[in-house]
Amino acid sequence: MTVLVTGATGHTGRHVVAGLRAAGVDTRVLVRDRAKAPSGVEVVQGDITDPAEAADGVDAVYLLWPLFAADGIARTLEPFQGKKIVYLSAMSAEHGGVWGDVEAAVEKVTDDWTFLRVTGLASNALAWAQQVGTGVVRAAYGQAKRSVVHERDVADMAVKALTEDHAKQTYLVTGPEAIAQAEQVRLIGEALGKPVTWEEQPPEEAIAQLSRYLGADFAASAVHHWASLVEDPEPVSLDVPRVTGHPARPFAEWAREHFS
Ligand SMILES: NC(=O)c1ccc[n+]([C@@H]2O[C@H](COP(=O)([O-])OP(=O)(O)OC[C@H]3O[C@@H](n4cnc5c(N)ncnc54)[C@H](OP(=O)(O)O)[C@@H]3O)[C@@H](O)[C@H]2O)c1
Repeated sequence: MTVLVTGATGHTGRHVVAGLRAAGVDTRVLVRDRAKAPSGVEVVQGDITDPAEAADGVDAVYLLWPLFAADGIARTLEPFQGKKIVYLSAMSAEHGGVWGDVEAAVEKVTDDWTFLRVTGLASNALAWAQQVGTGVVRAAYGQAKRSVVHERDVADMAVKALTEDHAKQTYLVTGPEAIAQAEQVRLIGEALGKPVTWEEQPPEEAIAQLSRYLGADFAASAVHHWASLVEDPEPVSLDVPRVTGHPARPFAEWAREHFS
């Protein structure tokens, strides 16, 4: 079989490529910049919104939809009619939004779909990297408890779904525990070998800051979501151990890999 990996230069996609190669699966990547493509795979240069050339002849796709709206998703998915689609989704898809819209569009083109709904990616913590250097991370809701998942666990789930029969399965993909954002920052400090502390940022300030990258609506909904996680932590799922056969990697391991 041949598998197409989209987002192959990104946090999860690069590990999906590595996992497929290790499993001996013929792998093709769709990248915007050929120079950034991983080595040892077939490369098609292009945009996710126009994947016809990349989709031609493949049996399965690891699908990322890196855009904030699902406009154009139906046309994008046309070349994947009847193929296996493993889509990196979000827990919030159950309430619709862009991830819900993409899931609905995927279901219209194939019966062989698998949805990997993550609560949050551990790689979100890289947004704090610059502040970590100063020893203080100023952000909102340090006591929001998130079950962030290591990108390698997402990739391990994806490789299983791409190479085995996981048709019509929706998995909740989380880390092994829900930990406070302030604790994540402390663990990054531990990995670095120097203390890093959390400074609480007023929510309005956080929304204004995040709006620059995410847009006002998305920023506001993200910050309101974190507020809810102070009293009501994100769920922890056993789907990673069930599907991959190994425990989900703890955040401390992610922090050591990225900050030590
Ligand atoms: N962050 C979270 O907590 C969270 C939670 C739920 C779901 N998700 C989903 O996870 C996705 C991010 O996954 P990730 O962390 O593995 O990726 P990532 O590290 O954010 O990288 C994004 C990837 O998408 C590629 N890309 C961006 N725009 C593209 C376009 N127009 N055409 C083709 N490729 C394009 C980028 O390629 P370049 O190298 O060319 O930039 C890169 O490979 C999000 O889009 C979201 O849907 C994230």
